[in-house]
Amino acid sequence: MVEFIKVASKSEIRNGYGKVIDINGKSIALMNNNEKFFAVENTCKHMGGPLGEGNCEDGKVICPWHGWSYDLKTGKNTFNEEIKLETYEVKIDGENILIKI
Ligand code: FES
Repeated sequence: MVEFIKVASKSEIRNGYGKVIDINGKSIALMNNNEKFFAVENTCKHMGGPLGEGNCEDGKVICPWHGWSYDLKTGKNTFNEEIKLETYEVKIDGENILIKI
């Protein structure tokens, strides 16, 4: 069943950074880009780098391993749109961050 699940508090994730969430057998990068929160697949399509351990700016998450970047809204790689991460809907409820999964 698809539902919103609380995965973090807003204060846990600094602006420009993220958190890796392991839930329902998936690894998800939850990113704070200017106090807007986005959730994308955590595993980089290049060589499997952990995107949630990278940083983000200008609406993009940047892989900490070799610098590939992805649009946080669409999940598309910024150099090759054929390469795409799964994205997840995020809802804010007060201080809580929820992901639809
Ligand atoms: S593993 Fe992400 S850029 Fe290489």
